Amino acid sequence: MSCVKTIGILTSGGDAPGMNAAVRAATMVAISQGMKVVGISRGYRGLLEGQFTELTGANVHTIFRDGGTMLHSTRCLEFHTVPARDRARAMLREREIHGLIVIGGNGSLAGALALSDPAEGGELAPRVIGLPASIDNDIGLTGMSIGVDTAMNTIVEACDKISDTACAHDRTFIVEVMGRDCGYLAMTAGIASGADLVLFPEAGRPPEEVVESAVKAVLGKRDPAGHVGSTLIIKAEGVEIATEELKSRLDARLDEELGAEKNEIETRVTVLGHVVRGGRPSAFDRLLGARLGNVAVRAMAAGATRKMVAWMPPVELPEDVARRSDFDPYCWLVDLPATLAETENLLRGESPLARWRASALDNLEDVFSI
Ligand code: F6P
Repeated sequence: MSCVKTIGILTSGGDAPGMNAAVRAATMVAISQGMKVVGISRGYRGLLEGQFTELTGANVHTIFRDGGTMLHSTRCLEFHTVPARDRARAMLREREIHGLIVIGGNGSLAGALALSDPAEGGELAPRVIGLPASIDNDIGLTGMSIGVDTAMNTIVEACDKISDTACAHDRTFIVEVMGRDCGYLAMTAGIASGADLVLFPEAGRPPEEVVESAVKAVLGKRDPAGHVGSTLIIKAEGVEIATEELKSRLDARLDEELGAEKNEIETRVTVLGHVVRGGRPSAFDRLLGARLGNVAVRAMAAGATRKMVAWMPPVELPEDVARRSDFDPYCWLVDLPATLAETENLLRGESPLARWRASALDNLEDVFSI
């Protein structure tokens, strides 16, 4: 058995669909390893206020289907201070919680790191393992964070609906999506929903250029006879110009280009806002949360601390048959004959991946029955 007998779990910062799947998996795996699990409500605020409840298999059994987080979440500014973290460490020690799993984004992981700093907390510093969870996909050293896939699907579904009405009326829609300073959701959802233009902060364009690119996209949709088409523009919230301002400057420029009396282009704005953060997690987010939660507990039991469990595609490919493409770091160029040979191995259950899948399922047999 691990030297950590009781673990705490909290979710912190903006909620993300799939957090519940991570809580459930971490709870069930920890129980299967003989640990006691304490859920801490409302993130670091709840930790400071002593909001602790024991989690059992029964508590968490069906939560994986639900959006949000059963543990609730807050953004706790007070946790940026040393006295608050001292209180939190004392709270954990009082309840004999020696390991903490923190599920959240940048700020939450930074909080976990400070909390576990031996230079600050001495022997009271708990072990911590972080799980990346933020719809923004703005966390380093992980390919995906919990919540991103569901948010992307929500945006694509909304854009499909908006495109129906946009096409029916030959209108231009500017759809604003969340993502804070990161354009990942806008970019990926833009590709998946066939947007005519995607505006994202990483492009670093000043407002005038943003307006001009929108003008170009809209005018480009007119056919040779001058008929107005529909245009879908997806704009990340982090782009420097406010969305309503973009609309009015776009309208003014279209009046200028076409003549105010002849300009028939109607523009509309939809801000998806917090809709993007809610809803039932996609199958991928349930799986991602569960797999990260599983590894978090097993790693903590094996003595790890001050780590984040990251999600990366398996990248141990032999150099003579595979190389990372220059165009997209997720995409590799692999030899076709080698691919087919490895597929044979996979189907025969002889490849490292097939063996890993089999042993992972073996390990989980005990957990499923909780
Ligand atoms: O980080 C997640 C996120 O949803 C961002 O996309 C957005 O900018 C922010 O949180 C909104 O925060 P709040 O819910 O506190 O308004």
